[in-house]
Amino acid sequence: MTFLITAGPTREPIDPVRYISNRSSGKMGYAIAEAALDAGHDVILISGSVNLAPPRDTKFISISTSDEMFEAVQRHADESDVCVLCAAVADYRPAHVSPVKIKKRADGISLELLPTRDILQSLGRRQNRKFLLVGFAAETDHLEANATKKLREKNCDIIVANDARIGMETDENELLILFCDGETKRISRAPKTFLARELVKIFQNSQQKRLTKKMW
Ligand code: C5P
Repeated sequence: MTFLITAGPTREPIDPVRYISNRSSGKMGYAIAEAALDAGHDVILISGSVNLAPPRDTKFISISTSDEMFEAVQRHADESDVCVLCAAVADYRPAHVSPVKIKKRADGISLELLPTRDILQSLGRRQNRKFLLVGFAAETDHLEANATKKLREKNCDIIVANDARIGMETDENELLILFCDGETKRISRAPKTFLARELVKIFQNSQQKRLTKKMW
């Protein structure tokens, strides 16, 4: 199978030297990429700026902004069997990007922010998609309720939810996996490398089940 995986943060420029971003390390997405390769799959890894070496043998696409990630995902989704959108895409971007460095002023400044395009939702809206669609939800509160809402609103097959305070920037995570048929599965705290191997098995089985169901 071919796995498309997004990982890491996006950077939304304010001016040539400043941007809005978040604390995502990319570790979960890169671990899933490694695990998928180890299981014999092809991997397209679309990554924001992180301090990790891309795994060998991936088709590696480096992006910076949410718009660049959006375009790269749209280009490669249809050649994939499983799309795992693990990246921490910024929710907002500055409405205007200054072409020159904004000068420091004695009084404050305000930034006008606009919502970015939701990549996961755009794939969920595709009619007759052949790929399994997996989203992630990092939450600090009401984990299950928020993740269930995302599963429905973004029309995914699977949402992998985690507490952002446990999983962000660390080597470990604890997962709650929600499936579109209402099934749930919990995996207790473990290294991301272990979790990634479990997730790849789950994604592979879910896509096989999906295809078998479609054939009948
Ligand atoms: O709505 P929220 O950002 O919490 O949803 C998280 C999920 O949606 C993740 O899978 C993330 O990669 C994806 N997402 C996206 N494009 C955005 C925002 C989030 O693909 N603009």
